[in-house]
Amino acid sequence: MTRILAIESSCDETAVAITEDGRLLANVVATQIAVHEKYGGVMPEIASRLHVENISVCLKESLRQANLTFDDIDAFAVTRGPGLIGCLHVGLQAAKTLALLYKKPLIPVHHLAGHIYANEFVGELQYPLLCVVVSGGNSELIIMRGDLDFEIIGETRDDAIGESFDKVARVLGLPYPGGLPIDQHAKLGKHTYDLPKPHLDKDSYDLSYSGLKTSVINLVNSLKMKGEPVRLDDMCRSFEDVAVGMVVEKAIKAAKDFNVKQVVLAGGVSANSYLRDEITSKLKDSGMNIIIPPLWCTGDNAAMIAKTAEHLYPRKVFAPLTLGVDPNWRITDWDKF
Ligand code: KG4
Repeated sequence: MTRILAIESSCDETAVAITEDGRLLANVVATQIAVHEKYGGVMPEIASRLHVENISVCLKESLRQANLTFDDIDAFAVTRGPGLIGCLHVGLQAAKTLALLYKKPLIPVHHLAGHIYANEFVGELQYPLLCVVVSGGNSELIIMRGDLDFEIIGETRDDAIGESFDKVARVLGLPYPGGLPIDQHAKLGKHTYDLPKPHLDKDSYDLSYSGLKTSVINLVNSLKMKGEPVRLDDMCRSFEDVAVGMVVEKAIKAAKDFNVKQVVLAGGVSANSYLRDEITSKLKDSGMNIIIPPLWCTGDNAAMIAKTAEHLYPRKVFAPLTLGVDPNWRITDWDKF
């Protein structure tokens, strides 16, 4: 029997989870959204301090939920990157301290690998697979030909998709994080605003969100200057159609070009209802298997870090206690630290 305690602190969620042979025994998430909301985005310095305040409480609560003590844990896993450097440090220091104290291995986990393996809480991964990784900091199309075998075939050339949802929400006066409110307003609106699609090479799987974000901001400001109303629901619908349409188009192309068996979604933006519906309906007759992660594991959590660590533990992917964080860690370098 293997019990893994995992820590995630890469952005604005302090999270601890415990698994026992794949079974989730504890899943604690302390979100800082209420604090960052008033700034319209994550304030890195405040986020790091809140992780320091929250980490011990989350650790204690995870043991309570699992009805275990630290002595029962076989390995301590932690998100080593990518993420905000100060935030990552807090989680890593906690994991290193526990590994040292209880003389157990330290497992460094890549945050995006975590988002991908979160899908194992729903079903078995079937290779080759295409993973559509869409979050506040990442927009990537990844092909996996086997366990822990990642190839990035496309990525954003500028902003991440989630970041564009958050910035557009801000200019529309919607709360942070902007993904869910835009999703909700879009359901009530019509695509009436003409927003430009970026000119991306049709053979490439890359994405781009900065131009789209800027056009919404410019359009909203110009409507305001002219004293014309901004039709909120219609603006959200028009933006979401282009933003999600772009990633769906590239994902469908990649799934067919690479002849994958399965398509999985990952990351905070995979909570988007239009994205979930479009991927499901467009691939319905393709014969490909689709996994849509449940809403509880689309955002940042440590259950996904523990799930990934279960793949690393048998391979003895253990780090020395001199390990440092890497805010820009590439997923293809998951075993280099
Ligand atoms: O994966 P995540 O929790 O954090 C990162 O690791 O980046 O993703 C957060 C992002 C935010 O940008 C948020 O606005 C977006 O996910 N998001 C959504 C939805 N729910 C959350 N975006 C679109 N539609 C949603 N329903």
